[in-house]
Amino acid sequence: MMSDVMDWDAAYRGHIFAGPPPWNIGKPQPAIADLIAAGRVQDPVLDVGCGIGDLSIALAEAGHTVTGIDISTAAINQATEKAGDRDLTARFIQGDATDLAALGLGEPQFNTVIDCTLFHSLPLDARDDYLRSIHAAANPGARLYLLVFTTDALPADSPCPVPNLVTDAEVRDAVAAHWTVDTIEPSHVAVRLPDIPNLPEHDFHTDEEGLTHLPALLLTAHK
Ligand SMILES: C[S@@+](CC[C@H](N)C(=O)[O-])C[C@H]1O[C@@H](n2cnc3c(N)ncnc32)[C@H](O)[C@@H]1O
Repeated sequence: MMSDVMDWDAAYRGHIFAGPPPWNIGKPQPAIADLIAAGRVQDPVLDVGCGIGDLSIALAEAGHTVTGIDISTAAINQATEKAGDRDLTARFIQGDATDLAALGLGEPQFNTVIDCTLFHSLPLDARDDYLRSIHAAANPGARLYLLVFTTDALPADSPCPVPNLVTDAEVRDAVAAHWTVDTIEPSHVAVRLPDIPNLPEHDFHTDEEGLTHLPALLLTAHK
């Protein structure tokens, strides 16, 4: 699939942000870490759009069984390398989340699907196929957790590629076409802003680790 957001392999090879992409923070997003700590993640888990695998690996280290899939070969190679030859219950598959059946993942098998900033990374016209695809791969009763940037997360004049930001109603309506939406609440995505010139001024909170908190929504749904 062609992306209208960015060339993901180029991002992971350091060609877009003058270094690693801003979302590579070396640990799971805090909003997702909170869900894990609260015991809200049931195995087996699908980490869809897993990037370089920090969330999948953290889940596996905590004893979860997880499949990470990502369209970027560069990201999946980094994830596989990180997992190394440790005996982790994480596996990584390169492929397109809008067609999980093509990866042999079309049947119900996951009890939790975690979308950590994939939804806003998809082209608008891929959203429905994507939500149908992950729904088909979910067991009855499975949970979906989706962390997505809101429209105020990035300025339109950003020198970096701007994802397909959402409003509350937009993401709710899109997900509700396939899933039963339970909650949607304000959240944030922690990023390490790139060291590039012309980054617009912002007044977002930057924490003690130097991570900037960009506005997001955390949606929870079930099948
Ligand atoms: C903003 S990154 C987030 C990565 C990871 N979830 C994290 O939090 O670090 C979005 C990811 O979605 C992946 N992606 C984009 N389109 C995809 C698709 N159609 N199928 C699977 N992965 C996709 C990209 O390669 C990228 O790794």
